[in-house]
Amino acid sequence: MRVAIIGQGYVGLTIAVGAASAGHKVFGFDVNDSLVSQLNSGNSHIEGISNSKLQEFISKGFFTASSDPTVLGGADVIVIAVPTPLDETRNPDLSYVHAAAALIDNNVKSPALIINESTSYPGTLRKEIAARITGIEHLYASSPERVDPGNNEWGTKNTPRLIGGLTPDAVVKAKEFYSTFCDSIIEVSSPEVAEAAKIFENTFRQVNIALVNEFAQIADALGISGREVLDAAATKPYGFMEFNPGPGVGGHCIPVDPSYLAHVANEVGVPATFIKRANEVNLAMPEYVVKRVVAGAGGSIKGKKIVVVGVSYKSNVADTRETPAAAVIDLLRGQGAMVTWHDELVGNWRGESSSPIAGADVAVLVTKHNGIDVAAIKACGYVFDCTGSIAGVDGI
Ligand SMILES: NC(=O)c1ccc[n+]([C@@H]2O[C@H](COP(=O)([O-])OP(=O)(O)OC[C@H]3O[C@@H](n4cnc5c(N)ncnc54)[C@H](O)[C@@H]3O)[C@@H](O)[C@H]2O)c1
Repeated sequence: MRVAIIGQGYVGLTIAVGAASAGHKVFGFDVNDSLVSQLNSGNSHIEGISNSKLQEFISKGFFTASSDPTVLGGADVIVIAVPTPLDETRNPDLSYVHAAAALIDNNVKSPALIINESTSYPGTLRKEIAARITGIEHLYASSPERVDPGNNEWGTKNTPRLIGGLTPDAVVKAKEFYSTFCDSIIEVSSPEVAEAAKIFENTFRQVNIALVNEFAQIADALGISGREVLDAAATKPYGFMEFNPGPGVGGHCIPVDPSYLAHVANEVGVPATFIKRANEVNLAMPEYVVKRVVAGAGGSIKGKKIVVVGVSYKSNVADTRETPAAAVIDLLRGQGAMVTWHDELVGNWRGESSSPIAGADVAVLVTKHNGIDVAAIKACGYVFDCTGSIAGVDGI
């Protein structure tokens, strides 16, 4: 099939490579010209997709990146994989999804299967995409992406994929497409069910993470180890699922998607109280971390050299979107500390570069990448571990 994918970020490029591996002719469309040149020269920008794989597909003619919207014309399948962030008022910002719909409306003049993989609230495919594309009888399906960058166990092929179509024909076509590179496809009765399932999955994580974050604070105040309690609770073979506390939540999904659900809940008059409270707890975690660091480091961090280790939002990825490390660093600086950060995966961030760990008075481990120099962290005067991975030091 001729496949065009709108957006070549974490999701779009992952699907592009999945489809190319099945022998489809894939055009990766993106508005970012420098990303397009980078991809066409065979350089992947995401973990999990190697340069060699990309180069192989380019040389076989299975993958071409482009910033020319005319590549959308003549496609059998068009996948939308664009950002769905929050605006300044923490409400859904669908401007990228609308832009993608406009691109299709302007450039695609023969019927195609149009699939939305971007995460959004129920009703997005029907009301925000299909309703904006006029004149041609396309097929429409929703198949929310579940990619977990950096996860070596679960990828595009073996993660079950949900599909909901606006019509039975759309479901048939979408199954035909995804079955060429996904092992398990689950049909649901409407795109709204597929869309809602995705945001509920992430809301489930957000709320449970908030619960353990709050519990970690309760346990510490009680003088017991929250992590030991959670490990103990996890020995129950049924009815319990372990989540880990941390410095907050980051990335494009967990801090954002639940607010999409809260937004539609609000519109239909049902208050999403768990989501609101979970946001408050998770967003307050950097403050809690800094309070503990100040107390643990002797009551004041004014003038102290502090290194924050690991600034991406999760282990072994370079993604710093919504990372709680930003708030931790800003709050530490607000207390007069001289703060640097160490993260060789990230390299450069917010106009600063990764610094060495050695020589700091205090180390705060926010995210632990494989191969991090734990000995150098432990050599700092005081260590606060947000990851529960260094025995015998303070932390959450
Ligand atoms: N990153 C994840 O782990 C993940 C997992 C599941 C679902 N999602 C969802 O998938 C969607 C995409 O997320 P992502 O992480 O790939 O985002 P991303 O920021 O990595 O990539 C989005 C890409 O879209 C491009 N873009 C923006 N507007 C465009 C337009 N009008 N036309 C063409 N390209 C355009 C951007 O330049 C960027 O390269 C979001 O809805 C997100 O919530 C993300």
